[in-house]
Amino acid sequence: MTITAILIVRRGPGADAPSIRYVVPYTPGQSVLDGLRFVRQALDPTLSVRHSCISANTCKECMILVDGKVAYACTARLEPREMVLQPLPNKVHLRDLVTEIGPPDERLDHALKTLGCVPPRTPTR
Ligand code: FES
Repeated sequence: MTITAILIVRRGPGADAPSIRYVVPYTPGQSVLDGLRFVRQALDPTLSVRHSCISANTCKECMILVDGKVAYACTARLEPREMVLQPLPNKVHLRDLVTEIGPPDERLDHALKTLGCVPPRTPTR
C-alpha cells in the first residue's frame, strides 16, 4: 500500500478562499515543495507555486503558510497526513500560492522600467 499525504491548497488568502485537495505519494524526507511539484507534474499543471533554489534555502521564493505557520515549502517536511497550504496573508496575492515577495524598491524599479520611466536615484552622502 502506498502511503500518501493530502495537500489542501487554498488558492488565495483567508479561510474563504477556494481550496483543492490533492493526494500525493509520500516518501520520508520529502518536502512540501516536492509534493507541490508532484501536483504540478502529475495532477494539476495550472497550480501556481514559486520556487527557485529548491532546498538551498537561499531564494526565499517558496515561502507560504503550512498549517497556518509561515514556512519555506522546500524545507518544510511533507507528512503522511492532511496539510493545509495557503499563500502568505500579508503580501499582495498574485495567484494560488504565489504572493509578491520582492522588496518594494525592486518592485518600484521594475514597474518604472516597464512603463519606460527612469527610476529615481537614491541620494548619496
Ligand atoms: S526554493 Fe529557495 S528557499 Fe525554497
